[in-house]
Amino acid sequence: MARIFSGIQPTGIAHLGNYLGAVQNWVKLQDSNECVFCLVDLHAITVAQNPVLLRDQTRLNAAILIACGIDPDKHILFHQSAVHAHARLAWIFNCVARFGWLSRMTQFKDKAGKDREAVSTGLFVYPNLMAADIHAYHATQVPVGDDQRQHLELANDIAEKFNHDFGVEFFPRIEPLILPETARVMSLRDGAKKMSKSDTSDQSRINLTDDVDTIALKIRRAKTDPEPLPETAEGLAGRAEAANLVGIYAAMTGQKTAAVLAEFAGSGFGPFKEKLVEALIAHLAPINARAQELLAEPAHLDQILQAGARRAAAIANPIVDEAERLVGFLARG
Ligand code: TYM
Repeated sequence: MARIFSGIQPTGIAHLGNYLGAVQNWVKLQDSNECVFCLVDLHAITVAQNPVLLRDQTRLNAAILIACGIDPDKHILFHQSAVHAHARLAWIFNCVARFGWLSRMTQFKDKAGKDREAVSTGLFVYPNLMAADIHAYHATQVPVGDDQRQHLELANDIAEKFNHDFGVEFFPRIEPLILPETARVMSLRDGAKKMSKSDTSDQSRINLTDDVDTIALKIRRAKTDPEPLPETAEGLAGRAEAANLVGIYAAMTGQKTAAVLAEFAGSGFGPFKEKLVEALIAHLAPINARAQELLAEPAHLDQILQAGARRAAAIANPIVDEAERLVGFLARG
């Protein structure tokens, strides 16, 4: 049984990209692994957050994860700030990772843009905290979307350097688990951009709490091209928006792309989009309904996360204590 770790930022509302790229895999992996899932609020504050909203959205995203099928009784679900081991190990990793390594992180370059003077130093060392999240549990498998691949490579580099510097095989190698078909769900407005919470247009994404009418409207307005759906997957080459919608439909109905195209070849996007709306609603409406029920009891959600944090700390604290001992710190007593 492998130990799995993964995380999601509790900002905004989890969307279809998070679900298809990561969370649906988290749910499946629960069957035969020991899973630790984290709402990464320490990561969230690397960019400015409204404190009231951050608290509400941490609960909201916890409710969404449980509604998607994360089982907080059998596995661990918690908020990162409640387990201090993350910040303790992240500091050590700040001192292990090299400035040059972090300078090459494409997500930092994208997020920081040209005005690097103005971004927080937390944003720069963000991947060190991510490495700490995983290694604090000696997790070996990390289910994520494609955009996290480079961060996980860095997490391996950091572990390797730590092990080398201190002459021990302490942190194991980690393996990314990336679902090939849904590794990168794209924006509904622009097939060149990934679906993202930070996109200013809410029309670009399906939030997992969107109601039926909103889902229908967003899909009807989703960008497409004037050509009918092709007969084969090769016919989707160079048609990013069409490929994205076909990919979403395939994922929602549990089919291969070829089967979807066999059904819709030659059809225009109008009828296809109606079927896509139906599939999305069939899948997402129960998730939304369950999330709303959970949100009606915020104190209960807080208890679930706090109990998860206690169990997470019981795993992470001894590992981080040992990392601190290896570094040369006196015991805390
Ligand atoms: P975050 O919150 O941006 O996204 C959560 C998960 O959703 C995946 N994802 C996508 N997959 C496919 N298509 C998309 N458009 C899409 N958008 C997001 C992400 O790849 C991710 O798996 N840094 C991480 C959170 C994190 C973490 C960790 C993950 C913190 N510590 C340790 C793994 C291990 C993040 O910001 O994910």
